[in-house]
Amino acid sequence: MSASIPNPALDPAVIRARDVEDVAVGDQIVRHRLSNRLIHWSVALAFTVALLTGMPIWTPIFGWMAALFGGLSVCRWLHPWAGSTFFLASLVMFFRWLSEMILLPSEKDWFGSKLFAYMRHETIDDWETGKYNGGQKIFFFAVSLGALGLLASGVILWFPLSFPQWLRELGILLHEITFILFAVAIVFHIYLGTGAEPGTFRSMTRGTVARSWARLHHPRWYREITGDQSRHP
Ligand code: HEM
Repeated sequence: MSASIPNPALDPAVIRARDVEDVAVGDQIVRHRLSNRLIHWSVALAFTVALLTGMPIWTPIFGWMAALFGGLSVCRWLHPWAGSTFFLASLVMFFRWLSEMILLPSEKDWFGSKLFAYMRHETIDDWETGKYNGGQKIFFFAVSLGALGLLASGVILWFPLSFPQWLRELGILLHEITFILFAVAIVFHIYLGTGAEPGTFRSMTRGTVARSWARLHHPRWYREITGDQSRHP
C-alpha cells in the first residue's frame, strides 16, 4: 500500500492563505495571500509573453522564438498588448505591496556591497530583517520603474508616426537598455526565489513558509508574528 501523501488543499495553513497573510498556523506562517500570489503570477506571465514575443522582433538571432506564437507578424501584434498587460499588472502589484516595501533608514546600506552579497546568495545575518529585506525592496522599485520605462518607450515604438525622429531613437535606446537590465535582474530573482533559498518558492504557490524559514531569512517579521524571540540556531 502506498504511503498517504498529505493533500495541500486540505492543509489548514493553505486554506487560511486564501484570505489572510502574516499569521502563524501550526508550524507554518502565511506569507502571501491568494490575491497577491495571483497578481504576482499575472505579472510574471505577461512579462514572459512580452519577452518571448519581443526577442524575435529585436534581432533575427531569436527569430526561431516567433514560431512559438505562430510567426513574426503575430509577435508584432501580440507584443505591445502583452507589454501593456505587464504594465497594468505591475501597477496593481505596486499599489498592493508599496506599504510593505518602504526602505527603512537602517536598510540604506543595501545600496552597495550588501546587495551584491545577496545576489551571490551569501547569508545576510540581520536580526532586524522584516518581511522583505533591502534587496527585495530595491528589486520591487526597480521592477516598478522598469515597467514604467518599458511602457513609455514602448508606446513611442507602437505609434512611431506620432513622434519625431529623435524621440523614436531615444525610445529604441531606452526600451533596449531597460529590457536588458530587466532580463538580468529577473534571472537573479528566479534563482533567489527557487533553488538558492529552499522553501521560498512555495510562498508564491501555497502561500506559506515554514517557521524555521521565516526565523532564518526574516527574523523581525517572524518575531512580530509569533512573539518568539529565539534566534535561528
Ligand atoms: C518564474 C518566474 C518567477 C519566480 C519563480 C518568482 C518567484 C518569486 C517568489 C518565490 C517570490 C516571494 C519571495 C518572498 O516571499 O520572499 C517573489 C516575489 C516577487 N516577485 Fe517574483 N518570481 C518570478 C517572476 C517574476 C517577475 C517576471 C517579476 C516582475 C517582472 C517578479 C516580481 C516580483 C516582486 C516585485 C516580488 C517581491 C519582492 C521580492 O520578493 O523579491 N517576479 N517572486
